[in-house]
Amino acid sequence: MKGLFDIKDRVILITGAAGILGTAMVKHFAEEGAKVVILDRNTEAGEKLAKEVTDAGFSARFFYTDVLNKEILEKNYSDIMAAYGRIDVLINGAGGNMAGATIAPDKTIFDLDPEAMKKVVDLNLFGTVLPTMVFSKAMVEQKKGSIINIASEAALRPLTRVAGYGVAKAAVVNFTKYMCGELATKFGPGLRVNAIAPGFFLTEQNRTLLTNPDGSLTPRSHSILSHTPYKRFGEPEELLGTLQWLASDASQFVSGTVTVIDGGFDAFSI
Ligand SMILES: NC(=O)c1ccc[n+]([C@@H]2O[C@H](COP(=O)([O-])OP(=O)(O)OC[C@H]3O[C@@H](n4cnc5c(N)ncnc54)[C@H](O)[C@@H]3O)[C@@H](O)[C@H]2O)c1
Repeated sequence: MKGLFDIKDRVILITGAAGILGTAMVKHFAEEGAKVVILDRNTEAGEKLAKEVTDAGFSARFFYTDVLNKEILEKNYSDIMAAYGRIDVLINGAGGNMAGATIAPDKTIFDLDPEAMKKVVDLNLFGTVLPTMVFSKAMVEQKKGSIINIASEAALRPLTRVAGYGVAKAAVVNFTKYMCGELATKFGPGLRVNAIAPGFFLTEQNRTLLTNPDGSLTPRSHSILSHTPYKRFGEPEELLGTLQWLASDASQFVSGTVTVIDGGFDAFSI
């Protein structure tokens, strides 16, 4: 079918868009002709990215947000609706691990800092729930829209150390499936909610776990790579095909799913 994966002129919101994975998404969707809305709390990086994209002749605009602040999100919603009149796709990308919420190899569950763990759960879970509550209103009125959450390998198989992050991303998977039914049964089958579960990509939120200060790989990295059939980390661009499929009508009968993008890590034992 011609144009099956077409996303031209769709209004695509991406939270955490100024991050490493988000930046690859913004550039790709803009080059494919979408109107990309960059939502991030990092104003400097967000504005720089928007300028880079518009200078290249594509459509992108930055809006400051905090995915944990419903008032700011509501203001974003009015500004975006005033500027574009619709929202076709929401990618809930803001998230990540936090150093304080991990259990170091020489520590145990008895050393866990519950407050740090709560912060990670807040960012990854409520940072997905709140933007979904706010931005899906437009999709409900349009009777069409695609929400894509970013889960993680840590949601599917608990990884050592990142106790809080794994719990939070597992909840994102459950929320994805919950919202599939919630939106489709109450507002129609044009509303879809899916997630991707990326494996290991070297970005800011995991840099200290994966690399030493001199840039060499940590023992954890070597352990990850030895359990990855492809024997390497992923490149941000390797998420784009799945994301475009989920954003476009090519996936119009797909909702409540989690697509793993991990070089085989999840499927592999020995
Ligand atoms: N890197 C990986 O290996 C990997 C694997 C699986 C899942 N993920 C997930 O992918 C998503 C993107 O992460 P990344 O690796 O590009 O990380 P990153 O740290 O490069 O980007 C995260 C972005 O989120 C923004 N952000 C953080 N808190 C925010 C808030 N409260 N409001 C608005 N913006 C906020 C940051 O400013 C940053 O631009 C995250 O949800 C992460 O958990 C990453």
